[in-house]
Amino acid sequence: MTTIAVLPGDGIGPEVTDAALPIIAAAGLDWTLEFGDVGWSCWQTEGNPVPERTWDLIDRTDGCLLAAITSKPLREAEAELPVELRGTGVRFVSPVIQLRQRLGLYANLRPVTDYRADTFAFEVVRENTEGLYAGFDYHGLDGELWDLVSNHPNAAASGPADTSVSLRLQTRVGIDRLLRFAFERAVVGGHSLVTLADKPNVLRQSSNFLRGRLETIAADYPDIDFEIANVDAVALWMVKSPGRFGVVVAENMFGDILSDLGAGVMGGLGLASSANIGDGGCYFEPVHGSAPGMAGAGRANPMAMILTIAQLAEHLGEDTAASRIRTAVSNVIRAGTTVTYDLGGSASTSIAAKAIIEELS
Ligand code: NAI
Ligand code: MG
Repeated sequence: MTTIAVLPGDGIGPEVTDAALPIIAAAGLDWTLEFGDVGWSCWQTEGNPVPERTWDLIDRTDGCLLAAITSKPLREAEAELPVELRGTGVRFVSPVIQLRQRLGLYANLRPVTDYRADTFAFEVVRENTEGLYAGFDYHGLDGELWDLVSNHPNAAASGPADTSVSLRLQTRVGIDRLLRFAFERAVVGGHSLVTLADKPNVLRQSSNFLRGRLETIAADYPDIDFEIANVDAVALWMVKSPGRFGVVVAENMFGDILSDLGAGVMGGLGLASSANIGDGGCYFEPVHGSAPGMAGAGRANPMAMILTIAQLAEHLGEDTAASRIRTAVSNVIRAGTTVTYDLGGSASTSIAAKAIIEELS
């Protein structure tokens, strides 16, 4: 039996979840759903956006669907804590970050598909744990870090107190598992090309190291072509000729930017799904956030959540159900009569979801 943890979260999360979940049974997926609490409302009531009972739920289920959470800056977070917890040092850490770190989810996978006209279908794989976001980020330098940069004319003119440095961490362990994941995606998804988006002509040492690892790992996949391209060129091509890509893989920051660009290329946040996968677990979520300004209005596009369910189904080996869901979404988009505002229509969240479920049946 397959059991899925469902975490509706905040803002539009609960309404897109409500509208999307019936697609599971309609697609013939025999999943048992168990609901859990996560997000800002947990922070406001318990001072912990991922309560222990939710971790227990995630640990004992086969997959996790997270709809959306709200995060707010430090001052608001402190002000919205229960009175008795204020000033006690409890810190808000985004549930998304907590899940990625605690479960070791190193790969963020985002399909970028043209549901309107079928002219492209590629996937962006972003590294989640190292690179420029590894946390080696310093302002006000001294010691060896200052020695390292003090000869740069701008640093010399600004002085150590007015200079900052961020290090791009790349390790063999981190790179190898990411690249292997990208090639495995290419095999599973039937893609013939893996593109590593990097900056080899500027970041000469680290990119050369990455290139060596790419060549080594690629040797295990002789049927799949690979290339290294400058990240800025990849951004241009994603807009101009998205059909040339199969799997695009990148370190944390480059991948962060390219994956949001991918969401834009496919028609916006209302269609973008994602997975976070590691050796110790996984969770699946629409790319969009909680859209507080729209919450409760029944206007949010449920397709991102429905496509996230398809992505989870595929991960669990339910390829037929996944492709039936995607085809139903595609048909409803093409018909254009029951789509939400972001796709040019006026349908509500539930009407749009019901249209997809009917199409599937
Ligand atoms: P957002 O994704 O919530 O909204 C951005 C824009 O996209 C808004 O104009 C919204 O109306 C539109 N939009 C989002 N989802 C849509 C949907 N399903 N259908 C139609 N339109 C949609 O990002 P924003 O406004 O930057 O953040 C709002 C809150 O969400 C913040 O607290 C932020 O921290 C959180 N957030 C959470 C994420 C997550 O759960 N992984 C990801 C991004 C933001
Ligand atoms: Mg992002």
